Amino acid sequence: MKNYLSINDIDSLSSWVKEGIALKNNPKEFKDLGSDKTIGLLFFNNSLRTRLSTQKAAMNLGMEVIVMNFGSEGWALEYTDGSIMNQGTSEHIREAAQVISQYCDIIAIRAFAGLVDKEKDEAEEVLNGFKKYASVPIINMESSVGHPLQALTDAITLEEQTFTNHPKVVLSWAPHSKALPHAVANSFIQMMQKQNAEFVITHPKGYELDTNITKNSRIENDQEKALENADFVYVKNWSSYTNYGQVIPQEKDWQITLKKLGNAKFMHCLPVRRNVVVADEVLDSKQSLVIEQANNRTYAAQLVLKKILEGLK
Ligand code: CP
Repeated sequence: MKNYLSINDIDSLSSWVKEGIALKNNPKEFKDLGSDKTIGLLFFNNSLRTRLSTQKAAMNLGMEVIVMNFGSEGWALEYTDGSIMNQGTSEHIREAAQVISQYCDIIAIRAFAGLVDKEKDEAEEVLNGFKKYASVPIINMESSVGHPLQALTDAITLEEQTFTNHPKVVLSWAPHSKALPHAVANSFIQMMQKQNAEFVITHPKGYELDTNITKNSRIENDQEKALENADFVYVKNWSSYTNYGQVIPQEKDWQITLKKLGNAKFMHCLPVRRNVVVADEVLDSKQSLVIEQANNRTYAAQLVLKKILEGLK
């Protein structure tokens, strides 16, 4: 595999999930695979889990790791070809990507949506700029439209926790005080479309996601109805896609409580705002999988790195 940019780079989700679980059971099995290789982790936005789990994954494979908070410490990058750079940007992606490719064998990038200009966000100028001008493989650590490391993690967690042949999995929108991107929800939906499961998306009217992503997935605007007999409830806020980046006030409270959860397991990518997105009683219950999900981030990242490293041999 050359790059890991979206969930569609996975050729067989079921075999990847099995391989991820095997790595979890024996994380040091391939401890020399990356012994002469360096990964550069470039963060244009904040992170806890992605930053530490990807470092841990690389270390488990014997790699060296360079981390840069590019958003706050790097030169402001220019992405437009032919631009006269007499304004705010200091370095063109053409040079930056080639230079970093000399220091690193793999480059991983986090660059969120700005949520102001849909067309600009969907062009994924940071991720695609590195893909175009770097000479080494690129990993998406959450871009404007996708978070495929999180979705692979979620597939591993679902597999570990599923005890029926055809589980019901609900993706529920939840409230948040800030406008958040669509990336986690998008990749979770794309991952669920590859699963043998009953999958339902529930959100208030006005929070429809990109129909190119949701495709034929069932959408139920009545949260109570959607949650009936769920085995897993994956909760995530996102801002409006139609009124791009806007927060639309709701009359009903979409926060997840134990009563709404029923007997289902609770999933969330973290970080989560307690008692806004989800009640304490859920997060502190045995039904919450959030800590194990965060644990599985390491093995999802390790699997992706392993596949890329094998391609470099
Ligand atoms: N879930 C996730 O990506 O967490 P971080 O933003 O902390 O990396």
